[in-house]
Amino acid sequence: MERGALTRSSIVASQIATHAPYGGVVPELASREHLRNIVPITRAALEKADCELGDIEAIAVTNGPGLAGALLVGITYAKALSFARGIPLIAVNHLEGHIHAVLLEDRQRRSGNAAPVRGDTGGLPMPALALVVSGGHTHLFLARPPAASDVELGSWQYSLIGRTLDDAAGEAFDKVAKLLGLGYPGGPWIDHLAQFGNPKAVPFGFAQIKTKAHLEGKAPRTKGAQTAPIADLDRHFLFSFSGIKTAVLRYVEVHRMRESCEARQRALSAMAHPTWLDAQVLCDQQTLDLIASFQHAVVGDLLRKTFAAAEAVGAASVLVTGGVAANRELRVRFTAEAAERGIPVAFPTLALSTDNAAMIAAAAWPRFLAGDFANLGLEANPRLTLV
Ligand code: KG4
Ligand code: ZN
Repeated sequence: MERGALTRSSIVASQIATHAPYGGVVPELASREHLRNIVPITRAALEKADCELGDIEAIAVTNGPGLAGALLVGITYAKALSFARGIPLIAVNHLEGHIHAVLLEDRQRRSGNAAPVRGDTGGLPMPALALVVSGGHTHLFLARPPAASDVELGSWQYSLIGRTLDDAAGEAFDKVAKLLGLGYPGGPWIDHLAQFGNPKAVPFGFAQIKTKAHLEGKAPRTKGAQTAPIADLDRHFLFSFSGIKTAVLRYVEVHRMRESCEARQRALSAMAHPTWLDAQVLCDQQTLDLIASFQHAVVGDLLRKTFAAAEAVGAASVLVTGGVAANRELRVRFTAEAAERGIPVAFPTLALSTDNAAMIAAAAWPRFLAGDFANLGLEANPRLTLV
């Protein structure tokens, strides 16, 4: 395989165990863990790739959006490496990284082909509508590759088509899981348990996921979210997940399930390494039905708006990326809908769905080809937008 399409190593230092006891990411702990891990992980990555620092031609780092402290650790380290080795520094938007996780694997699937050239998009027809759906984002972008002949404008172009007005979808998974006494992060727990429930049992309609006109023009309060005003966005492609979270809370209260949720939480936290199988034993049918119905409603909303947006903007393909793209119901339903509509859909493999290093390198590659480098004044931008 040729340069730009081969992952020689991509090592992830998971912080799940650090944050799990708190049921969410603790920013101070995240920075501390980054600081602790960055040198050993870099060494391990070089070793696995069977190369040395001297072999590296450029260093890419994400400069946002995200938590300021964690971003700062990466940026400072990358700047130091760039300066010390005299190699270019490339700034990558975290969301662009998620999009390029899919494009990278699309290229890799055609392994053995000629080296990807600037503008090469693999087998996926362009432009693509990208749903970036994670713990911090639920955003729709129209992604266009650089024109193959245009050396100066070698960057991909992105237009924001829609976004959440409040919680991200992953955040809703995490908060609902916490409420139901399940583990952290909540997505994978809900994903596994949902298969044992009836997705039609609790009718969470789209009334719970309606757009909120009164929020228009205001910046969303979602952490690290795109801050652009939404006045120019089509209301049909806006998301809101705080309503369904509240609806689940109300359901739990009305049906007097709170005590059993707390008991489940206590039982799971008493176990050394609880799995979703342990949680399944601790869930009655009503809880499993609630979980399945919640997931069904969230996935249905993501699906409906994504495909409507793809049609409205004339996208030639759809790609779904970010932690929530690992969800099995999401993959099955998006695949079926895409087949019905005759539009290609692509997802990252599970390893590249959640945050990883390969996606940042993949997004940096076209910038490397175009000579689009950052300077040592690069700063962290927790609310960096992608346009
Ligand atoms: O992209 P990511 O690793 O980190 C950022 O938020 O940037 O995404 C993490 C999110 C969490 O909210 C997690 O609950 C969710 O992705 N997630 C899932 C699944 N796996 C991870 N949500 C639904 N189903 C899953 N299988
Ligand atoms: Zn992410």
